[in-house]
Amino acid sequence: MAANPATAIFKVTLKEQIHIDKLPKHIAIIMDGNGRWAKQKGMIRAFGHENGTKAVREAVESASEIGIEFLTLYAFSTENWNRPKLEVQTLMKLLVSSLKKEISTLQDNNIKLSTIGNINALPVSAKKELLEVVEKTKDNNRMTLTLALSYGSREEITNALKEISLKVKNNIISPENIDESVIIEHLYTQNLPDVDLLVRTSGEQRISNFLLWQIAYAELYFTEILWPDFTKNHLYEAILNYQQRERRFGKTSEQIK
Ligand code: IPE
Ligand code: IPE
Ligand code: MG
Repeated sequence: MAANPATAIFKVTLKEQIHIDKLPKHIAIIMDGNGRWAKQKGMIRAFGHENGTKAVREAVESASEIGIEFLTLYAFSTENWNRPKLEVQTLMKLLVSSLKKEISTLQDNNIKLSTIGNINALPVSAKKELLEVVEKTKDNNRMTLTLALSYGSREEITNALKEISLKVKNNIISPENIDESVIIEHLYTQNLPDVDLLVRTSGEQRISNFLLWQIAYAELYFTEILWPDFTKNHLYEAILNYQQRERRFGKTSEQIK
């Protein structure tokens, strides 16, 4: 028997509930919980990292599908160098294999890859692969995917200060002319807008040295989901939550309306 359209239940998906005219321009994600995910399954941490790459694809595809312009993923922090050597090696190998595997996805979806952090600290093979993908995708313009690798916000700000001081010393900039825009131009993120929505998985509610300057007015969203379990719908949930908030930027609610 044919379904009666009058009684059919139309389920509105999370994706369909998103207001396309109120999208965050820049989403940043602290991808956390790979180790705990693996432990829960009685597996070694590397297994969690491997499965974390699937979640990266989910996040990248969902963000680009709905029209997010900038997605920044925290993949490896300056502090992560202090992990056991074998785990660091695993993460670097995974970076290389994922880049090799995902280049076609990036091209097919018109996504440009960029990086922030001290990529000179990465193993030669990882740096080489990374620069290759950055070069190959440089003309793509649907979304900019930025990987934070060997990234630390304090290091970034320290470097910016050094560069600016040198310019002052060499009379390229005068101290009176140092304003926020000068600082922004000296950060790794000079080509990125401020973060609108910061997501962290795994239940931890901290920033862990990520984009301290750039999240000054970001909306923060914490979820208990462990990173390898993160799916498209989790990103849509985060965006829907963001869209319910009133961003006042210091003004009153009445001024916003
Ligand atoms: C995030 O997962 C991946 C990186 C930091 C590289 P973790 O490896 O931090 O996982 P947990 O926090 O130990 O569960
Ligand atoms: C933050 O996760 C860094 C990345 C997600 C790459 P960590 O798991 O290293 O953070 P902390 O040290 O627990 O805060
Ligand atoms: Mg962690």
